[in-house]
Amino acid sequence: MEVTQSLFNRRSIREFDSKPVNRQELEKLFEAVARTPSWANSQPWEVFVAQGETLERIRRSFQLKHADNASLSPEIPLPKKWTDEAKQRQRHLQPDMVRDCGDVIDRFKILNRSLFNAPVVVYICLDRILSEWSLFDIGAYSQSLMLVATQLGLASIPAMMLTVFPEVIRQELHIPDNLKIAIGIAIGYADESSAINRFVSSRRTVDETVRFFD
Ligand SMILES: Cc1cc2nc3c(=O)[nH]c(=O)nc-3n(C[C@H](O)[C@H](O)[C@H](O)COP(=O)(O)O)c2cc1C
Repeated sequence: MEVTQSLFNRRSIREFDSKPVNRQELEKLFEAVARTPSWANSQPWEVFVAQGETLERIRRSFQLKHADNASLSPEIPLPKKWTDEAKQRQRHLQPDMVRDCGDVIDRFKILNRSLFNAPVVVYICLDRILSEWSLFDIGAYSQSLMLVATQLGLASIPAMMLTVFPEVIRQELHIPDNLKIAIGIAIGYADESSAINRFVSSRRTVDETVRFFD
């Protein structure tokens, strides 16, 4: 499958089947993803993979904390401001989801609080002293991961909600203090029977986005 096809086929999957992902498949994935470019080849990504009983403990702790209304504290702070245009586009998300999937908004919340029932969550971290340039590299690494996953027949979702109780993740995955948890990416096989997985998000057109000058 070509990269362009992976780009068109990838979309966020919010409900996973319990089927585990084979370790060799994951190693193949990370081997390809290591080819991601970075500033002066600094390769700032530090990757922690949660699966099996470790992931179940993280999931249970997250569910309990959500039930207690614990405050969400991702290590990359939540955004404080958006442009009006970005706000406008965000407002489309919920009605578009209902259009494609029916009334799944409660289910959306439950799944967001349950690590999407995924069998694998990849946490991508970087050293706290690094700048926004390295965060750019982490973004590129994340996209490579999702595209190669698509090519291997694996579903995925990048999610801030996977990172909201960092102390739980740090304890379970022995993440050292110098590292910041940037993003979590859930990986696995889509639950094909789940209505929420029917959602296909829209995009701005090329005309709306790109300015050409001759
Ligand atoms: C940095 C980042 C954080 C995200 N966090 C969440 C999240 O917490 N929960 C969620 O349901 N989706 C999350 N998403 C998925 C986006 O909602 C999704 O990528 C966007 O709506 C476009 O849809 P698509 O991925 O299906 O193309 C996140 C995406 C990114 C890139």
